[in-house]
Amino acid sequence: MIVNRRIFTIYSHILILCEQLEVIYLKNSGKVSLKSKVLTILEENRGKSVSGNRIAATLGITRSAVWKGVNQLRNDGYLISAVTNRGYCLTQENDLLNEPSIRTLLRTHDIGRQMDVFRTIDSTNNFAKRLAEIGSANGHTIIAEAQTEGKGRMGRSFHSPSAQGIYISVIVRPPVTLEQASNLTACAAVAVCEAIEDVAGVRCGIKWVNDVYINDKKVCGILTEASMNVEEATLDYAVIGIGINVNNPSFPDDISHKATSIRLEAGGCINRSVLCAELLNRLEERIDTIGDGAFMDLYRARSILDDRDVTIYNNGIGYRAHVLGIDERGRLIIRRSNGSVDRILNGSIEL
Ligand code: BTN
Repeated sequence: MIVNRRIFTIYSHILILCEQLEVIYLKNSGKVSLKSKVLTILEENRGKSVSGNRIAATLGITRSAVWKGVNQLRNDGYLISAVTNRGYCLTQENDLLNEPSIRTLLRTHDIGRQMDVFRTIDSTNNFAKRLAEIGSANGHTIIAEAQTEGKGRMGRSFHSPSAQGIYISVIVRPPVTLEQASNLTACAAVAVCEAIEDVAGVRCGIKWVNDVYINDKKVCGILTEASMNVEEATLDYAVIGIGINVNNPSFPDDISHKATSIRLEAGGCINRSVLCAELLNRLEERIDTIGDGAFMDLYRARSILDDRDVTIYNNGIGYRAHVLGIDERGRLIIRRSNGSVDRILNGSIEL
């Protein structure tokens, strides 16, 4: 039994690695796979039929090559209908995350301009950090349908089931001071709230420092990992990792009391590519204005902790406190049980 599980784990790792190598190879060689080219045309015409002849002529390939590309996409899970004399149609319900569908909705200058989308990955943050180390550009975005080792703050894991959530990491290299860089998570939290409200119409709040909540349950976690140039006291790069529970119908028993999804709160499924693109658009807007500090007012206005009694954990030690608010630098202002008032920069909060 244990041996079987081990073989399966090794096999899964090899598959993940192969997919990563394929994506990297195609990117570096400037080649775009046949199915990606076909998908781009179908995505540009989503909901409408496009004839095999037209696709073939546009791409300079044969009709049987188009058919092969369509079949590969179907094997990947895309919902493509075929009607005699009318052609192929990517249905509106199709919800697989893919580069063309996200790209057509982007309004950004850098974020998402370089993008890799994986079916499965260990952790988008880990992959993005490896890319950043070898010099990947500002805005390079990694997205996955599932993560096998999705990670959260304080060594926790992040539940990342396939085709339900959005698991995304963005490499950013903004020209900011280290103090401004420490606000990147806050920027991302505001961007997530704005994107969810825009696309799903449900009000979101922020649980300091990195969680987005709907109706007192967690819908999104953010993990920002950064590399600094210590000598010059500047930011080299940061990887902003965002995990959103979008269309999850339910959660495992151990987290079901504190986790929720947009679907559960809004009462219907959300198109994940649309949400993904809106998130990237908002994230860039917020990071572009990180220097003027205005976003901190937006962040504070969304805090769900104000005037609540909480338990704060720091280095494994917990203590009770009353939250008074968040200051202009993003620090949590608390009153301890002995009456003293403190401003804390990090910690994990339990409601
Ligand atoms: C937390 O809740 O403590 C933060 C969760 C962050 C999860 C995201 S999902 C995308 C990115 N890749 C990871 O491994 N983690 C982040």
